[in-house]
Amino acid sequence: MTPGTLHFSDVACGYGDTIVVRGVSGEVAPGQVLGVLGRNGVGKSTLMKALAGFLPLAGGSVRWGGRDLAALPPHARLGAGIAYAPQENVVFGELSVDENLWLHVRGRRDGRYRSLLQAFPRLEERRRQRAGSLSGGERKLLSFARTLALGAPLSMLDEPTEGVQPENIDRMAALVNEAAGTGRGFVVVEQNLSFLEAVATHILVLDHGEPVLAGDMRALDRDALERHLVV
Ligand SMILES: Nc1ncnc2c1ncn2[C@@H]1O[C@H](COP(=O)(O)OP(=O)(O)OP(=O)(O)O)[C@@H](O)[C@H]1O
Ligand SMILES: [Mg+2]
Repeated sequence: MTPGTLHFSDVACGYGDTIVVRGVSGEVAPGQVLGVLGRNGVGKSTLMKALAGFLPLAGGSVRWGGRDLAALPPHARLGAGIAYAPQENVVFGELSVDENLWLHVRGRRDGRYRSLLQAFPRLEERRRQRAGSLSGGERKLLSFARTLALGAPLSMLDEPTEGVQPENIDRMAALVNEAAGTGRGFVVVEQNLSFLEAVATHILVLDHGEPVLAGDMRALDRDALERHLVV
């Protein structure tokens, strides 16, 4: 296994005694984007929480650059190179947009957000506004910008385009592709198939917590994918 490859195998996880996800395996090498798809409630976010260390594994393993992550708490995973933008509670509502962007950055302010704020003028215009007053889609943009700017070798994004305007979704795709082009890896949970078609190198489809389809994005048939997404 090369350094910087995420490798999860036969993962099982859930809440208390309830197992929600089982038998899920996958890999993300540098520069790859793994898309995770599935209907509402199939366990996509549960899998992400387990990969990010917020839920214990009930079975299987998660390795990063050959290192077993099981005992590594969530905050230490960022230090190890894994960033995570959860689906919910993505911003601090009482703080301004600017404060949300800089809260976790130590020391001197740098240019990390320059190109992102250019890409998303909506965020730039709202920098002094309370993040709690942003729309759901704007909060998603804020969370995306913050996570992308960390520059982590692996970023895990849980439904980054939920509620985001189409033109900003296109910019998000371009930014993910640009970052992947420099060797960064991504795990992206999405229900927006077009977004995944624009960014994913390979995908994993879950149903009832289990893998039902996996493989190279280009080789997969869109009809088969859609069948797993319609309610
Ligand atoms: N904190 C929790 N405690 C107990 N059960 C939970 C918890 N969070 C989620 N679940 C349950 O786990 C299952 C999978 O939920 P999960 O959020 O992983 O689905 P999802 O695929 O991300 O759905 P969505 O597309 O709506 O985000 C659901 O049955 C859900 O009710
Ligand atoms: Mg979810």
